[in-house]
Amino acid sequence: MKVAVLGAAGGIGQALALLLKLNLPAGSKLALYDIAPVTPGVAADISHIPTAVEAVGFAGDDPTPALEGADLVLISAGVARKPGMDRADLFNVNAGIIRNLVGKVAEAAPTACIGVITNPVNTTVAIAAEVLKNAGVYDKSKLFGVTTLDVIRSETFIAEAKGLDPAQVKINVIGGHSGVTILPLLSQVEGVTFSDDEIAALTHRIQNAGTEVVEAKAGAGSATLSMAQAACRFGLSVVRGLQGEENVIECAYVEGDGEHARFFAQPVRLGKNGVEQILPYGDLSDFEKGALDGMLETLTGDIAKGESFVNG
Ligand code: NAI
Repeated sequence: MKVAVLGAAGGIGQALALLLKLNLPAGSKLALYDIAPVTPGVAADISHIPTAVEAVGFAGDDPTPALEGADLVLISAGVARKPGMDRADLFNVNAGIIRNLVGKVAEAAPTACIGVITNPVNTTVAIAAEVLKNAGVYDKSKLFGVTTLDVIRSETFIAEAKGLDPAQVKINVIGGHSGVTILPLLSQVEGVTFSDDEIAALTHRIQNAGTEVVEAKAGAGSATLSMAQAACRFGLSVVRGLQGEENVIECAYVEGDGEHARFFAQPVRLGKNGVEQILPYGDLSDFEKGALDGMLETLTGDIAKGESFVNG
């Protein structure tokens, strides 16, 4: 397996590179790319860690050498939030970065799975899809918006609230990846019950957890370490699926049947071709039904913004 990380010199990228060096299956290759000149140094640094994963780094304007032969491309290139910003404020810079990088993926690794981390994910995934489509290489089962951070935050906060082992908590988070579009299905968490007040408070905390970190970092960025762990978990799941492991399931923001919106975060079964199956997410409580209805205008607007960025 070859995994490429684009944006590898950044806060997420460096931590993700470290985690992948430690956790990818033996014999894997890890290609790091960033416009920042430090990137070959990041690769040299982690290459001294004794695991059977080969790390190489590339800097400059062209990600092609990092992309050639990649099975999975994880993209965290772009600017991050500062206090007072929401994810949509990142659009002006990050939309162009995603368009250019995914254009390079279309040329150099047209059959790779792509995980988009760069915000605003609701929109950048639509940009990526349109770029791939215009290049004639779009396969909807291979394009993912990485929403795993919403899942791991939910697992952590539920465990904290209920005194559980976070490793044992399982939850689906559906919708998108910003504010009201993040919908944790708390009504379905096995073995716990929540009062209405707890559901309202926990949902609000999960939806705004990114802002908690942005404010605590006081202008020095947004979530990087927890995001790297989330992207590592997601990336390893994609790799396990590509390698033929069965029943690998993660939530991700993918193009499904379009019931709610063209792209929608939902549980998917991963396999040799990326998404093998979009899984049902079960019955929603009245609170969740209301939240789903309430998010759709935002989500479809975010998607349309990405589509029209590419197609005019
Ligand atoms: P950062 O600023 O620390 O790193 C970004 C890196 O991207 C820098 O090293 C920069 O040189 C690089 N870069 C910029 N333009 C590039 C290009 N054209 N090609 C290659 N590399 C390029 O930012 P951080 O904290 O790593 O965040 C990255 C992105 O991830 C942001 O857009 C942020 O909003 C997003 N994010 C997404 C999350 C999610 O749940 N999906 C969670 C947290 C952050």
